[in-house]
Amino acid sequence: MAVNLTGRNFLKLLDYTPEEITYLIDLSAKLKAEKKAHKNQKVLEGRNVALIFEKTSTRTRCSFETAAHDLGMGTTYLDPTGSQIGKKESIKDTARVLGRIYDGIEYRGFGQDIVEELAKYSGVPVWNGLTNEFHPTQMIADMLTIKEHLGGLKGKKLTYMGDARYNMGNSLMVTCAKLGMHYVACTDPKYFPKEDLVEKCRAIAAENGGSITLTADVSEGCKDADVIYTDVWVSMGEPDEVWKERIDTLSPYQVNEKAFSYAKDTAIFMHCLPAFHDLETGIGKKVYEKFGLSELEVTDQVFESQRSVVFDEAENRMHTIKAIMYATLGADQ
Ligand code: CP
Ligand code: NVA
Repeated sequence: MAVNLTGRNFLKLLDYTPEEITYLIDLSAKLKAEKKAHKNQKVLEGRNVALIFEKTSTRTRCSFETAAHDLGMGTTYLDPTGSQIGKKESIKDTARVLGRIYDGIEYRGFGQDIVEELAKYSGVPVWNGLTNEFHPTQMIADMLTIKEHLGGLKGKKLTYMGDARYNMGNSLMVTCAKLGMHYVACTDPKYFPKEDLVEKCRAIAAENGGSITLTADVSEGCKDADVIYTDVWVSMGEPDEVWKERIDTLSPYQVNEKAFSYAKDTAIFMHCLPAFHDLETGIGKKVYEKFGLSELEVTDQVFESQRSVVFDEAENRMHTIKAIMYATLGADQ
């Protein structure tokens, strides 16, 4: 049956079938090729979208704005202080107001329950631009990037190192399970994903020919990996006090040349960004002054190596977010 995502929310990939996810990856590739050929893509002229950011962003915000403009849509950016949301007005009321004005709403913020509630009451497609639990738009970009570099997804082994119980680890585990990939969370057991999500993903992976492995052993976790992926050790919204414990616990899971020595020769390095790989950031400098570490979740050597596809990944955020809006607003039907 032909895929039709018109009117759908995009809140987490658990809500999507493997066929629908594959459709979005393929549509992204098509829209990317069209953009490179300077094709006019203004098929959603006259529509408008609201972009709510309760946490900061570079890639997600720029991608939503550029993609919307390429499609001919107007955008309103609501920054962490620029609206009444949650402070003077409930999510339920905000949803009903914005749903009357806009054709779609992006939300980046805290709990997944907030974006789910927004979707429940707005009556228009809601896109999750990152919550504590999931980062689904990042997933379509990551899968497109893997496909471009490795030629396919099914059967590939993706090893995630670091904090595997937060938005990036959870989302990659779900996505790999849906697409028949082999997902490995390689970290200290304290940072393994929650058992109920692991069980859910194991069942999904079994249906699609993939697998889920949790291990604290770096050589086992990275053995024959096609992709080694990491993310920051302290996420947006977490208190500064957790840095010490994270550094102590997660340092053995830094992505470095040693980790790559266990992987396939063709293995690629991925990171959703931003990354702490040198002393060129304010937080990076502070961590260095306090703990003496000049690189955190990934070494500068790996980050800057030929294996690193992080900027392809970042570019693909725009093409894939465009595909998500395009399909859920029905431009492909
Ligand atoms: N990867 C990602 O979501 O980046 P931003 O926080 O800059 O949007
Ligand atoms: N885990 C990170 C992802 C940033 C894209 C965070 O939530 O800050």
